[in-house]
Amino acid sequence: MTRNPYLPNPARIEDVVVENEARDIKTFRLAFTEPNAAEFRYLPGQFAELSLPGLGEAPFGIASSPAEEGFLLFSVKRVGLFTTELHSLEPGAAIGVRGPMGKPFPWERMAGKNLVIVGGGFAFTTLRAAIKHILHPDHRGGYGSVLVVYGARTPGELMYRNELAEWQKRDDIQVHLTVDKAENGWNQHVGVVPAVLEQLKPSPQDTLAIICGPPIMLKFTLAALSKLGFPDDTVILSLEMRMKCGIGKCGRCNIGAKYVCKDGPVFTRQELQELPAEY
Ligand SMILES: Cc1cc2nc3c(=O)[nH]c(=O)nc-3n(C[C@H](O)[C@H](O)[C@H](O)COP(=O)(O)OP(=O)(O)OC[C@H]3O[C@@H](n4cnc5c(N)ncnc54)[C@H](O)[C@@H]3O)c2cc1C
Ligand code: FES
Repeated sequence: MTRNPYLPNPARIEDVVVENEARDIKTFRLAFTEPNAAEFRYLPGQFAELSLPGLGEAPFGIASSPAEEGFLLFSVKRVGLFTTELHSLEPGAAIGVRGPMGKPFPWERMAGKNLVIVGGGFAFTTLRAAIKHILHPDHRGGYGSVLVVYGARTPGELMYRNELAEWQKRDDIQVHLTVDKAENGWNQHVGVVPAVLEQLKPSPQDTLAIICGPPIMLKFTLAALSKLGFPDDTVILSLEMRMKCGIGKCGRCNIGAKYVCKDGPVFTRQELQELPAEY
């Protein structure tokens, strides 16, 4: 029998990690508490609705990769009612997980290509999932070069700092970190992500660019990629619209005839240009 898509899978919080100095981003490690969770099969780029009793649900990108078996990661910024309650929870607390939802990054199209991965602020979550997936020993040979540019306001606002440091030691991925405001001891880039991208000048040849970030960063990163010669169908973005059902039924998230929850949240720049500019 098909499972009711409105029913969340029961899960438990196993671990909580504070990601940034402002302490308003936390990563939650969740484990399902019922066997039907094996049906929760996802790829990086997808999201899920997390639910708390009495508060409802909210969508979050899945920050873990499927190769990290037995748990899911979600990195959540505290902004309002739902996320404040979630931030107050400790390991052992119950939570619901509905999904996976939306389209993942276009993994079949990405096979064999060079990848430019560009992230800003706390939207780096699904990019973390993508990088873990690409770097898995069973997958890394399936892609060309991998260039990551990730920026935040200050060094203390970069998420996943231990992993970033590990990735920077590897020779099969180039990770460039940048901050708007340097602090003592910072010896990496200073400046906005699009400016760093323009300095690094990745070639558009056989390359796909994947971008997640706040609207202002998306706007200037798209301009930088155009200058570098990336055609619109090689630029892939993930959008964060307001959502409710997450499965294309309620009409809360539409842009023209497309539902961001079902037809996205991952789109090419070319697909977005064919839609009304409502995002
Ligand atoms: C596909 C998708 C993936 C997402 N992934 C993540 C993630 O990985 N980590 C994360 O922290 N957040 C993510 N979000 C945003 C997250 O869903 C909202 O922050 C959350 O719903 C806010 O709930 P709240 O009750 O705490 O805040 P509310 O009280 O609902 O809102 C507080 C403030 O946040 C703003 N806000 C709320 N929802 C959104 C939204 N969707 N986009 C932009 N601004 C919003 C409101 O305008 C308001 O200013 C994602 C959203 C979508 C649609
Ligand atoms: S959130 Fe309901 S249609 Fe997209």
